[in-house]
Amino acid sequence: MIAAKNVSLQYPDGTVALKNINLSVKPGELVYITGPSGSGKTSLLKLLMAMEFPTTGTLEIMGRSYGKGQTGPIRQLRRMLGPVFQDFKLIKGRTALENIMLGMRFLDIPASEMKKNATEALARVGLKKKANTPVENLSWGECQRISIARVLARKPLLILADEPTGNLDRENALNILELLVGCKDEQTAVLITTHATHLIPANQNRIIRLKEGVMEEAEA
Ligand SMILES: Nc1ncnc2c1ncn2[C@@H]1O[C@H](COP(=O)(O)OP(=O)(O)OP(=O)(O)O)[C@@H](O)[C@H]1O
Ligand SMILES: [Mg+2]
Repeated sequence: MIAAKNVSLQYPDGTVALKNINLSVKPGELVYITGPSGSGKTSLLKLLMAMEFPTTGTLEIMGRSYGKGQTGPIRQLRRMLGPVFQDFKLIKGRTALENIMLGMRFLDIPASEMKKNATEALARVGLKKKANTPVENLSWGECQRISIARVLARKPLLILADEPTGNLDRENALNILELLVGCKDEQTAVLITTHATHLIPANQNRIIRLKEGVMEEAEA
């Protein structure tokens, strides 16, 4: 689902954020991307969301490449993606279920199916009983779960989480990683960027390290 060949990214101000990246990700894979601040982690995710485009090299996401201004195809691509935000972006005054359904509103699925998928997603994060609770009455950890359920309900093929453990204490960081790892299935790949290499469980799929835009892959 991701095939990057010799991909470099240079920003307009001349900063080279990524150099000669070669990366292949298949459905069902879990990939951690680590590296110091400024090493290119967010830039790599931006390429995968078609928010930035390779300066050189080729990048195929879901079997095709994307160029600046290709609004239609990019919109199609983003329907297959599940971005995870650090600050949850839940909408106050709406219930847990409504928040999850709002995350699905651009997906062209019938209302009845939306509700079914949203309810299933809530169950997967263990919060079915909170479906009708306004999000402001939920605990912080529950909001975290709702934000993951909102991603799951979209049935994305590729989940992209940029520093989901940032600012979290150890326990919550481990919780969110566990939830994200649980999002992986046969069709869905999960990419997680994190500084917190010590929180990455041993023997877990793939770890990619970025250093000044250069990638090295290590066995976990
Ligand atoms: N829009 C931009 N224009 C110019 N340079 C940029 C832009 N965005 C990022 N950069 C630069 O590209 C490099 C990689 O940045 P990036 O945000 O990808 O790093 P990161 O690994 O995500 O860092 P952090 O861990 O701090 O989030 C840095 O040198 C950064 O200053
Ligand atoms: Mg970053």
